[in-house]
Amino acid sequence: MTSETIHFNLFTMNAVEHVTAGNWRTPGDQSHRYTDMDYWQEVARLAERGKFDAVFFADVRGIYDVHGGNRDTAIEKAIQTPANDPELLIPAMASVTDDLGFAVTRSTTYVHPYQLAREFSTLDHITDGRVAFNIVTSYLESAAENLGLDERMEHDTRYDRAEEFMQVCYRLWEDSWEDDAVIRDVDAGKYTDAEKVHAIDYEGEHFSVPGPHSCEPSPQRTPVLYQAGSSERGRNFAANNAEALFVSQPTKEAVKSYVEDVRERATEGGRNGDELAFFAGIAPIVGETEAVAKAKYETYRENVDTEATLTLLGGFMDLDFSELAPDQPVEHIETEAIQGAVNALTKHAPERDWTVRDVAEFCGLGSTSPVVVGSPEQVADELEAWRDETGVTGFNLKEIVRPGTLRDFVDLVVPELEERGLVREEYEGETLRENLVGRRYLADDHPAKRD
Ligand SMILES: Cc1cc2nc3c(=O)[nH]c(=O)nc-3n(C[C@H](O)[C@H](O)[C@H](O)COP(=O)(O)O)c2cc1C
Repeated sequence: MTSETIHFNLFTMNAVEHVTAGNWRTPGDQSHRYTDMDYWQEVARLAERGKFDAVFFADVRGIYDVHGGNRDTAIEKAIQTPANDPELLIPAMASVTDDLGFAVTRSTTYVHPYQLAREFSTLDHITDGRVAFNIVTSYLESAAENLGLDERMEHDTRYDRAEEFMQVCYRLWEDSWEDDAVIRDVDAGKYTDAEKVHAIDYEGEHFSVPGPHSCEPSPQRTPVLYQAGSSERGRNFAANNAEALFVSQPTKEAVKSYVEDVRERATEGGRNGDELAFFAGIAPIVGETEAVAKAKYETYRENVDTEATLTLLGGFMDLDFSELAPDQPVEHIETEAIQGAVNALTKHAPERDWTVRDVAEFCGLGSTSPVVVGSPEQVADELEAWRDETGVTGFNLKEIVRPGTLRDFVDLVVPELEERGLVREEYEGETLRENLVGRRYLADDHPAKRD
């Protein structure tokens, strides 16, 4: 792997609609097959053929019920509902691939760290070290109500809990079992040397976990850690914990500023900020020629469902767009939901006066990320320019049609990037972390490794 190598993840969801509302209606789209194991195995094989790092699963709890103050539009238009659990797909996808990784989104707000640590250790074992944990703190009010809280936890309190949550996980993954704890000594009748398995005795404000971890060390111990926090607090959390970041911003300037800012925060906190990997969201539309790509773009545009898009964005931003007139400007707002989703438009592209109509149009394909349309050469040029001008490590591909967006990319753009020497020809490592950053375990300067 060289610094020239551009990395790719497929950004998807175990649901009909993810971040492009309405294109399930495009002829040939197979989003409805999300309930089939065959579909996901096909996606895994395709992503591995393209030498992707991972299939990256977003996930939410709750329903997008901000728009119009009810859930009807979200349900009618399949906005991230129905959605099945992503984690349970991983064994099936791993069984038909050898090197592809799997990033799974889990919320620190609604699960317990002891349970989550066990789930990821199990996945890391059975995939031979190919999993990543995308750490999120969640944003939908309806999730809180379903999961036993009276109301959504306040934005920064969610991050306080997340910091503690990760401390518990780190202790379980890194400190509880020594490397040589399992001895399988038949003569002595000892499977494990009990002296090498340690309690963690964690006592905090949110959690009290004595340990030890219930799993023996997995190939990566701690899964690769992804994060996408974009608020002030979220960036600090990311700089402290993440190895790879997902950034979804509309302009190169905004992505570059995010990359530099989080690298700097990480370095200030005692880590080597230059080692963090950044993935920018991008929605590619590619055809054998520019004309074919443009024709696809027109079809996809026609199939964007504006009301569904505003329902999706309403959940991201905690803003009921149904109360605003189409030409009404959308100001920068402080929100209890995803602060970065609002900033992505109003703050980072301030040269535009964003109206409700503009927001819906811009976000119709791929939400707050840019759409890149063209021939394989043109798309490759754009990706190279984005990489060079922003400092990102690679891209999370946002799907418009499924699995067509991925298939087109793997069949048309990857060969072009290969010819330019910009993507790997073979996976070089055994684990996801090795393929991404060239090492099997967390770096020594990561807080999980420091006392
Ligand atoms: C690009 C991006 C992708 C995200 N994906 C998810 C997701 O799949 N599930 C989820 O619950 N939250 C997701 N989030 C939410 C965040 O990870 C975070 O928990 C939330 O945005 C609040 O933090 P912030 O205000 O710092 O952004 C995403 C946020 C961003 C910016």
